[in-house]
Amino acid sequence: MKQFKAKIIFNKKIALHHHVLAFRTPKGAKKVNPGQFFNVKVGGSYDPLLRRPFGAHKIAGSKIEILYKVVGKATKILSERKPDEMLDVLGPLGNGFDIKSLLSSGSSSVALIAGGHGVAPLYALAKNLKTFGLKISVFIGASSKKYVVCDGDFKKLGLKVHVATEDGSKGHKGLVTDLLKSGCSICACGPKPMLKAVAKLSGKYKTYCQVSMEEYLGCGTGICMGCAIKTCSGNKLVCKDGPVFNAKEIIW
Ligand SMILES: Cc1cc2nc3c(=O)[nH]c(=O)nc-3n(C[C@H](O)[C@H](O)[C@H](O)COP(=O)(O)OP(=O)(O)OC[C@H]3O[C@@H](n4cnc5c(N)ncnc54)[C@H](O)[C@@H]3O)c2cc1C
Ligand code: FES
Repeated sequence: MKQFKAKIIFNKKIALHHHVLAFRTPKGAKKVNPGQFFNVKVGGSYDPLLRRPFGAHKIAGSKIEILYKVVGKATKILSERKPDEMLDVLGPLGNGFDIKSLLSSGSSSVALIAGGHGVAPLYALAKNLKTFGLKISVFIGASSKKYVVCDGDFKKLGLKVHVATEDGSKGHKGLVTDLLKSGCSICACGPKPMLKAVAKLSGKYKTYCQVSMEEYLGCGTGICMGCAIKTCSGNKLVCKDGPVFNAKEIIW
């Protein structure tokens, strides 16, 4: 059973709108892979009714950290939860990044491209990919400096980090896709318009590209069919078949 109650280890604010929350998966639980997510019941009541999905940000054995941005009711409630309180969690869910395919894609360098809180699963991926000796560059895009998070964590891993902000308050002024060069494989997570632009670039450069899709999820387990997207091989469910897909499979 993937559903469990987890004690909150910590839940701290790391930036104006971003928080990191840690919990443990139970004994005997499946290993968590970068790109997989947890569907969390944020509070004790039926409002909000639906669980909310969050990618595994840091994975240290059974200890999982999620990094989340407060954008609405559920994330606000989550941000107010205290250490030692219990969370109702479902997961790990979905298929994470396909590291085997990435390694056999023929490129020894990989660009990790994040839009806003898209950094969350890419940090776990970066840590994993480092063990394979790939050259990893990180590209973080946000509307403004205050929404750029985790760049320091990637630097601590020894990775080169490029930042782009739309208002020019940090790094390159413009879109993160402006910074991309040809020649490396790509893994991306962020808002759909960014993923679409990244997929288009990977098509132009003929490079291998995986994207982690963000859709509204209901059940998170493949039952409600509420998260279907169109792909070259028919409709696929973001929660069950994804959230990570080969970019060229998706009909944007
Ligand atoms: C597989 C998956 C993994 C995710 N991982 C993370 C993560 O690691 N960190 C993180 O901060 N967020 C993540 N999200 C998004 C997160 O689940 C939503 O931000 C959260 O559910 C918002 O709940 P809310 O009630 O606070 O906001 P709501 O009131 O539901 O929404 C507030 C605003 O956010 C937008 N929004 C909410 N959910 C989504 C969504 N799924 N796709 C696009 N726009 C949305 C709405 O359009 C609205 O403008 C993930 C989503 C998916 C599908
Ligand atoms: S969220 Fe229910 S099928 Fe994907």
